[in-house]
Amino acid sequence: MVVLGGGPGGYAAALYGAAAGLDVALVEESRVGGTCLHCGCIPAKELLQTAEVLRTVANAKEFGVDAGTPGLDLSVSQQRKQGIVDRLTKGLEGLLKGRKVTVANGRGRLADAGSLRVVVDDGTEFEGDAVVLATGSSPRSIPGFDFDGEVILSSDHVLALEDVPARTAIIGGGAIGCEFASFLADVGSEVTILEALPQILTGVDADCAAAAVKAFKKRGITVHTGVTVEGYERNGAADGGVTLKYSGGEGATSLAVDKVIVSVGRAPRTKDIGLEGSPVSVDERGFIEVDPYLRTTADGVFAVGDVVATPQLAHVAFAEAIVAVKTILGEHAIPIDYSKVPFGIYCHPEVAFAGLTEQQARDAGYDVVTSKHSFAGNGRAMIIGETDGLVKVVAEKNGPLLGVHFVGPWATELMVEGYLAVNWEALPEEVGAFIHPHPTLSELFGETLMSLTGRGLHG
Ligand code: NAI
Repeated sequence: MVVLGGGPGGYAAALYGAAAGLDVALVEESRVGGTCLHCGCIPAKELLQTAEVLRTVANAKEFGVDAGTPGLDLSVSQQRKQGIVDRLTKGLEGLLKGRKVTVANGRGRLADAGSLRVVVDDGTEFEGDAVVLATGSSPRSIPGFDFDGEVILSSDHVLALEDVPARTAIIGGGAIGCEFASFLADVGSEVTILEALPQILTGVDADCAAAAVKAFKKRGITVHTGVTVEGYERNGAADGGVTLKYSGGEGATSLAVDKVIVSVGRAPRTKDIGLEGSPVSVDERGFIEVDPYLRTTADGVFAVGDVVATPQLAHVAFAEAIVAVKTILGEHAIPIDYSKVPFGIYCHPEVAFAGLTEQQARDAGYDVVTSKHSFAGNGRAMIIGETDGLVKVVAEKNGPLLGVHFVGPWATELMVEGYLAVNWEALPEEVGAFIHPHPTLSELFGETLMSLTGRGLHG
């Protein structure tokens, strides 16, 4: 098996395939690990953890702990972040070596139409019985906002910031926009989110998105929705920033800032990898077309991860790699139910969910019942001083759970129990009957399920 691209999709395919006895070559132009490890999940969460530590110390007086007024040296956080990335990268390189995967460092492409050969830019060639395309994605911009790394920043630039900008505009209030808004507000930037749609965090249940927005506003983040960003002008030398022009939304139509982050989605990297003129079909947005087994339209060629039009999440790429490799091995693979994959957004408060939102469930024609509980009444939440947020469950009347939605402390960890329940198509009363340890944040999930059956203990 030849794998093109060493991010979560590609390296998972290589590791899983090698563990199953395949002879594997992996072609990667940079270090293995991909966006997730080098300019996505891992570095972003480290910076968000720095923000959390800063918040904790700033709030320490509430607990009677006098830690003075905390200051931030972002360069130390950047070094810590890089240390974690380096350790994980070395670990991954060791795993690949241990499984005898041949890692070729260079830029690869499918050699010619219909073949299962991958050629690397140094002339090396690998021929497989199967090829897995996993070249990932890169930040997308909008017309007039080309990334310059100076004022107009992509997520890659934000992750390498050496100083905190005094004023930041974020175009696009999706996962990346909200995580950076949260981080930058915590470390002292004045943050404004400009979102085209009527709601930020599209795809998140409306109650949870509203709770996140409420918490953002409490922390001084300005959120403008329904906005069209039209362009920008550079301010004078004394200011050094830009003035953004936009329309729609309420009130002002211009905004002076030091940095503009554009987080309007990520585009698949499917150019110059030998697909032009090949039997591999690519849609109008550049995504590779695949069937539920991740087979492309070319025999023996598979595609996984951000190059296919499925949720651009590392754990989805892992799962896709396993389905693809099992199919290559001729084993029984179970296609992924993309309507039930877990999502976790690491802003403060965290947002996490799996399954249908209330609106999606209604639109799908279910007779829907819901229940929600706020963290405000949860003992552990009060103890840790994090009472913003809620748990919401969506179920079919007299039927299984359809969706679970969390916003609040450690939501990304808490959600996993709900994810299992949704994917097991469990009944609310079955899961509600399980004992949730006290005092924990997880109790709120149990309580929310019990209330759905009309027999909640605490409301
Ligand atoms: P996204 O698709 O999640 O959000 C983009 C947002 O930008 C949308 O709300 C969209 O309506 C808005 N938008 C688009 N064009 C606009 C315009 N011209 N003006 C104003 N707003 C505009 O994309 P994002 O946040 O860039 O993330 C890319 C991918 O990475 C996503 O698939 C996301 O799921 C994934 N990701 C996941 C994370 C996580 O799960 N924790 C963290 C970061 C990224």
